[in-house]
Amino acid sequence: MTGFSPPEVTSLIGAHELCARVEELAAEITRDYAGRSLVLLCVLKGSFVFAADLARSIALPVRCEFLGVRSYGDDTKSSGVVQITQDLTRPVEGDDILIVEDIVDTGLTLSYLREQLRSRNPASIKVAALLHKPARMQRHVEIDYLGFTIEDVFVVGYGLDYAERYRNLPFLGVLDPSGIAAS
Ligand code: IMP
Ligand code: MG
Repeated sequence: MTGFSPPEVTSLIGAHELCARVEELAAEITRDYAGRSLVLLCVLKGSFVFAADLARSIALPVRCEFLGVRSYGDDTKSSGVVQITQDLTRPVEGDDILIVEDIVDTGLTLSYLREQLRSRNPASIKVAALLHKPARMQRHVEIDYLGFTIEDVFVVGYGLDYAERYRNLPFLGVLDPSGIAAS
């Protein structure tokens, strides 16, 4: 796989490992929802790469919806404030929703989203998260399909950003903040 690899980012999970794990999750989802269709709810922006890979490996009829959420300023610490920046374009009443999240950190975003979506009367709500950082958990949230559990480090790549950068890295890496200014 090509793609640039800036010096301030140290690889944590390589592209091949990400791909293999996403395929495993998709196979599990395909089995669990057999005979049904589902709404993949991609939480923008961080989940767009994970959702694109996951969607293409799920062997079921899928509808893709996008929800814009912002819980971070241009910093590596959660603001604790969740804001919907872009709402769904269609109702989800009676649908089986699978929320696709890049990372569950404090859990504030996901618990807020679950609450919001429940009020729209879907048939079911489950969560697929690529990453979980349990060290910083503030709110417990159920993750039905989890890719990887990671340490309390700030990661970028594969859709995740720092100040809108690094989303296009094909791998997941740890950002060294002291290296940013120099790059
Ligand atoms: P939470 O509300 O604290 O669980 O934060 C969830 C959101 O914060 C994620 O969907 C990400 O957009 C962002 N986030 C949390 N940790 C990281 C990280 O290590 N790198 C990049 N974004 C992160
Ligand atoms: Mg996010």
